[in-house]
Amino acid sequence: MTTNLSGKTALVTGGSRGLGLEIARAYALSGADVVIASRKADVCAAVAADLAKETGRDIVGLGCHVGRWADCDRLVDDVYERFGRIDILVNNAGMSPTYPSLTDVSEELFDKVMAVNIKGPFRLATLIGTRMVKHGGGSIINISSIAAVQPGDGEVPYAIAKAGVNNLSSALAHALSPTVRVNTIMPGLFLTDISKAWDPATLADMTRTKIPLQRAGNAEEITGAALYLAGDDSSYTTGSVIKVDGGVAWAAG
Ligand SMILES: NC(=O)c1ccc[n+]([C@@H]2O[C@H](COP(=O)([O-])OP(=O)(O)OC[C@H]3O[C@@H](n4cnc5c(N)ncnc54)[C@H](OP(=O)(O)O)[C@@H]3O)[C@@H](O)[C@H]2O)c1
Repeated sequence: MTTNLSGKTALVTGGSRGLGLEIARAYALSGADVVIASRKADVCAAVAADLAKETGRDIVGLGCHVGRWADCDRLVDDVYERFGRIDILVNNAGMSPTYPSLTDVSEELFDKVMAVNIKGPFRLATLIGTRMVKHGGGSIINISSIAAVQPGDGEVPYAIAKAGVNNLSSALAHALSPTVRVNTIMPGLFLTDISKAWDPATLADMTRTKIPLQRAGNAEEITGAALYLAGDDSSYTTGSVIKVDGGVAWAAG
């Protein structure tokens, strides 16, 4: 089965690099017009121009700090003004800052982790999901993390937020039913900028002992699940969590 997204418009937050960029590219190669959004508008614009050249689709890059609702509101208005529709929303932008100890987690850091990973996705999914209902359909895909179900000791605020993302999908799958489908992709370890902050020794040990496929994922390996959930092949799938993690969650039972 090949996913055909012709005639559809997708919004991918955090689409300027890492998993988001690969998802945006896969959607454009499948026929969708795509908006990528991240904090750095200039980077998004440059990446969008490259993707447009590569895929022949209408690709737009816009600046948006997803942790700020005013930014989210402006982004949604801009995309509807330009394309008139959003068929696929991927809430992908996320961050997982390290900290020396639990008591060093400042209120500011905690609030930022919540803002970017859960507060923004809630705002975008509710604003866009409500419009999708009026337009008669749509697919919302929230990117969480295996930290949502297997939290490590160095990522407590992140794990709390990502567990919220799983629950956001379940709740909105009901709230926006039967018109809009809402699902979660739960990635394991992927080699992107986010993973550069992690301790190399811990990483090597983890891939050897905790991942049945014995390696981290390459960013493009997220696209199978992202295409499935965006297209008609998943027409009877909502409120689901698809883990793409080399087997980590399975290995831990
Ligand atoms: N890589 C992994 O191993 C892994 C594992 C589990 C889950 N995940 C999840 O997968 C998603 C993508 O991760 P990744 O590894 O691809 O991350 P990444 O390479 O660090 O890229 C993060 C993207 O999000 C954007 N971003 C960061 N903060 C933002 C904000 N406040 N507002 C808007 N955009 C923002 C970044 O662009 P700007 O800097 O321009 O804003 C960038 O485009 C995240 O939700 C992450 O939690 C990743």
